Amino acid sequence: MGRLFDFMLPEAKSPTADSTDALFHFINEVSFILLLGITIAIIFFAIKYRRKSDDDVTPVIKHNNALEITWSVIPLILSLIVFAWGYSGYLNLKSVPDDAYEIKVNAFKWGWNFEYSNGAISPAELHVPAGRPIKLVMQSRDIIHSFFVPEYRIKQDVLPNRYTYVWFSANEPGESHIFCAEYCGTDHSGMLAKVIAHEPDDFDTWLTTSNTGASDDPVEHGKSLLTLNGCQSCHSVDGSKGIGPTLKGIWGHDVTLSNGSTVTVDENYIRESILDPQAKIVKGFELVPMTSFMGILDDKEIDSIIEYIKTLK
Ligand code: CUA
Repeated sequence: MGRLFDFMLPEAKSPTADSTDALFHFINEVSFILLLGITIAIIFFAIKYRRKSDDDVTPVIKHNNALEITWSVIPLILSLIVFAWGYSGYLNLKSVPDDAYEIKVNAFKWGWNFEYSNGAISPAELHVPAGRPIKLVMQSRDIIHSFFVPEYRIKQDVLPNRYTYVWFSANEPGESHIFCAEYCGTDHSGMLAKVIAHEPDDFDTWLTTSNTGASDDPVEHGKSLLTLNGCQSCHSVDGSKGIGPTLKGIWGHDVTLSNGSTVTVDENYIRESILDPQAKIVKGFELVPMTSFMGILDDKEIDSIIEYIKTLK
């Protein structure tokens, strides 16, 4: 508490934050002391050795071993301290406690969803029990994103075709912001979510009563799939203009494609557009290519989405 650079950090909400913050303060305070010392020395020497008369001649200094060793060895020692300290903190962040509770994180342009052990999926909200280590196993459906929760002092790249992981523990129940920290296109800055830490009992209640997304009604199922997969960050359902064409009122209508031909929006066109979005692009939407959902949505899910789109008149 009360350190010089506290103002630069948000509130710390994870027990592992302390070691991260200690190193952060060490680096900043050492840099500040050096900056101060060097600035004072420059000013002092500039005044002391300023040219006082036209006869002043600068002596030729070729070498000073003592001085050169000093300014090499001190920074070397400081860098080694920072390295050792940082490495031990890194090991701690990579060593997940055995009793950690595992949650799957899916990142996509431009949103997050979170999958729990019982099959429940929550879009844009990561629910966790407070006081227990949480292991996040993360994957991206399209390009590189980065999972960043400043208050827990964790940041980890999320990659396509490779799982990455990170762990944290919430000191107390409460909410924290999740950001994407890797520039990922048009709506990168809107790729936000929240961590919601519950009392352990409340978390169990939330988990058992939460929606698994698998409704029996195809229209409802299709609607929740659009939310879970972030489709609406590009395709509106109310007719408003977006990065991709709106889904409202398209069913059964003809649309003009980028090559000038037309196609009728039916089951086959929607299916193809989900699995192979580049095959037939609607005129005017060539700029931001959509990611294929091949291997992400199965036939039953695509059918449900088609049923939902039919209702968007
Ligand atoms: Cu995802 Cu930036």
